[in-house]
Amino acid sequence: MPILISYLLGSISFSTITAKWIKGIDIRKHGSGNAGATNTLRVLGLWPAIGVLVLDICKGIIAVLIGNWFEPDQILIPTLCGLFVIVGHNWPVFFGFKGGKGIATTIGVAITIAPIPTICAGLIAFLFLIFTRYVSLGSLLFTLLLPLSIFIFSESNEVFYLSIFIWIFAWYRHRSNIIRLIQGQEQKVGQKG
Ligand code: G3P
Repeated sequence: MPILISYLLGSISFSTITAKWIKGIDIRKHGSGNAGATNTLRVLGLWPAIGVLVLDICKGIIAVLIGNWFEPDQILIPTLCGLFVIVGHNWPVFFGFKGGKGIATTIGVAITIAPIPTICAGLIAFLFLIFTRYVSLGSLLFTLLLPLSIFIFSESNEVFYLSIFIWIFAWYRHRSNIIRLIQGQEQKVGQKG
């Protein structure tokens, strides 16, 4: 039950809803085509992007808390809730299974389940993002560093395996970004065109 609720919660695509609401457009047909905060910034501007970012992070936090509420004594259910809210975000049942790349929701999940490792991985990735101005590179680095950081801080096996799945999902969803980065065609934050 909590896992299904988490998947359905993840399936609420805030960027798709916001773009439809503000401009009457399908964000998945504009910019990078991704239903996420970065593309919301590109297509709709700063404030809608901040709103989408906060709501997507909250989805991740709420899903883990729901799992914890159902099963307060064991980590497996909150961990699976965290995994499935990201699955819902990436492949949303309410929006034709075409969603985002899961990074903001991952931040919410990871900060709730393993705060210290997440902050460490997040800070390094954020500095990288600031210096390179590639959000996708920051996202890729964050999800790569997360299992490493979780391993170093000796979190439970369940949390470590969750971070491995998160890493695989994120890199799979960023396939087009990786190709653009290699070809030098990825857009930087604030870059037009
Ligand atoms: O979190 C998504 C970000 O890493 C890349 O988004 O729209 O540039 O593909 P986008």
